[in-house]
Amino acid sequence: MKVGIVGAGMVGSSAGYALALMGIASSVVLVDRDHGLAVAQAEDIAHAVPFMSSTMVEARDYNGLAGASVVILAAGVSQKPGETRLALLERNAAVFRDVVGNVLRVVPNAILLIASNPVDIMTQITVRLSGLPASRVIGSGTILDTARFRSLLGRHLGISPQSVHAYVLGEHGDSEVLAWSNARVGSLSLADVAAQVGSAITANVRAQIDDGVRNAAYKIIKGKGATYYGIGAGLARIIKAIAQDQQDVLTVSVVNAEIQGVSDVALSIPRVIGADGVMTDLFPDLDVGERDALHRSASLLKETVEAVTI
Ligand code: 2OP
Repeated sequence: MKVGIVGAGMVGSSAGYALALMGIASSVVLVDRDHGLAVAQAEDIAHAVPFMSSTMVEARDYNGLAGASVVILAAGVSQKPGETRLALLERNAAVFRDVVGNVLRVVPNAILLIASNPVDIMTQITVRLSGLPASRVIGSGTILDTARFRSLLGRHLGISPQSVHAYVLGEHGDSEVLAWSNARVGSLSLADVAAQVGSAITANVRAQIDDGVRNAAYKIIKGKGATYYGIGAGLARIIKAIAQDQQDVLTVSVVNAEIQGVSDVALSIPRVIGADGVMTDLFPDLDVGERDALHRSASLLKETVEAVTI
């Protein structure tokens, strides 16, 4: 599979690096308005390839995307310390008005994978700009928040995060919802496992994990200026599900006709991902508090996207 990446900053290039290490794509093409940056990132990634795979990595202009099955859109600005994701909206919407047309001119049938923030709004804007079916415009959404949740729960319990099944829903941002009520470890309930391993999930532990997930990006950006390894691996994980038609359950953002009483809104719930993008939505069984929180998250996103003129 050939994968295009528009935006060769830290997020785009980390995705390219993860794809090359995982050997998922036969070819990765980096496109950036700063062509020199794309060339430098592609060369650096290409030098890792002989250790891990045989992926061809190169920097090209938009025409170089021809033949790509998936194109990651990672162009635009990212947060400064203390800045919210929603604060990036006007700047990144302006970037996408150019980028989406340029990509579709070359690969009208590609699946678009949106990484730029605020990712839910950018996903909805991309559907509007492209006219593509919603199932083929996928935002990375809460894939990373879900990984953070699984990682912190796994660490607390002393169990591999790969055996922890717990989802973050809604906005990839401040209003996101940690779905505690249906978190499972193996096939057991969280409370059962916590009791058996002697690591109770007290109110304090719960608050710490919630804070660790919700505010992870703010803390990392304060410490090193940006987040990129986690999302780079998350983007590669979504592409693996598409490339290998895996029917994996991942939390990604897609425009839905209706979520929790809010119509026409992009946000994350668990979805089955395969060769054609999103194959099925899997709406989880939530408790009343989580349903209300998801309604609030959906309403916030809906109000925000309605204010954008495309
Ligand atoms: C993250 O959550 C900043 O959205 C980015 O790491």
